[in-house]
Amino acid sequence: MMSFTDSLLSWYNKNKKLFPWRKIKDPYKIWVSEIMLQQTQVQTVIPFYNKWVLKFPNIESVSKAGDNELFKYWEGLGYYQRVQNLRKACIQILEDYDGSIPSNKNDLMNLKGVGDYTASAIASIAFNKKHHVIDGNVKRIMSRLLCLPHFLSKSMSKINKFLSEHISDKSPGDFNQALMDLGREICTPKSPQCLKCPISDYCKSHLMNKVSKYPIKNNKKKIFPHYDIGIGVIWHEDKILITKRKKSGLLGGLWEFPGGKIRPTETKEACIKREIKEELNIDIDISNFIAKVNHKYSHFGITLYAYHCHYKGGIIRCNSADNFKWIKSNNFSDYPFPKANHYLFPHITNSGPVTC
Ligand code: ADE
Repeated sequence: MMSFTDSLLSWYNKNKKLFPWRKIKDPYKIWVSEIMLQQTQVQTVIPFYNKWVLKFPNIESVSKAGDNELFKYWEGLGYYQRVQNLRKACIQILEDYDGSIPSNKNDLMNLKGVGDYTASAIASIAFNKKHHVIDGNVKRIMSRLLCLPHFLSKSMSKINKFLSEHISDKSPGDFNQALMDLGREICTPKSPQCLKCPISDYCKSHLMNKVSKYPIKNNKKKIFPHYDIGIGVIWHEDKILITKRKKSGLLGGLWEFPGGKIRPTETKEACIKREIKEELNIDIDISNFIAKVNHKYSHFGITLYAYHCHYKGGIIRCNSADNFKWIKSNNFSDYPFPKANHYLFPHITNSGPVTC
């Protein structure tokens, strides 16, 4: 019988998905792909990756790029901290490593935004170093393969031991990517296709006909908060006020229509007036309701209630934003906005300036 490792690799060689980052060996591009893949599914990443590497073909190009340009190419991928870290890491590589990405896992982990998983992925895929990776897919495969008795966080040492003993000497990057593909295509969370699985002969839960019992579920319910948010599309003549979110926070560096969380005791209109006064020090009049937008981010959900508003008076002071701009509604595409704001664009563009 073929070994576990050879069975997995021979399946990968026949079935591997030819993602664009698998057709090249450039460590920079492999790194970009791994950062994009950190919290985003492969099919979503592909078009972003292709556009990114055309626009930013190397480390220098990222290090010199401005906020808007960078965010524009990341717009829609979410988790914008990743792109800020990527630029910081590019500058680090130019300053500390003569412009070449380090091949050593510890050095890679010193780069901004590169943790254990990403460092192992880059070291193995780009530099053929023997480091295994563990993501959600790999954990699920391992819990079935080894019939891990506990909820997964307690079983990490067993998973690490197994993988470090079985990772391929010759092709550690392929070994890691084979597990990623296996988890995505075959050993899926629901209805795993064990008959097609190249390592089913080694899978304890399959051999005991207990695959559906693994991984053992964590019964703790996840709390998924929801926020109602009032936002103002504030007009002054034919321009609209947009503000830039502070770099350090959630969606940091992106532009948005200003507003904030609606308090339990206030109306949506009162919330918008209060938030605009607190955040920007200006007075506004509220006009027509524009739209309600529901959007789910990874750890919480929001409902936006957007209203056309009019600037009434006051000098803008950015109390909680980094910057502001008055722009025409046909210039939205020049600025990176969070996804939830995008749903409003057609409503605003079609309505034109609104009179009170
Ligand atoms: N997820 C994270 N890294 C990946 C890779 N290199 N290929 C496919 N999916 C991935």
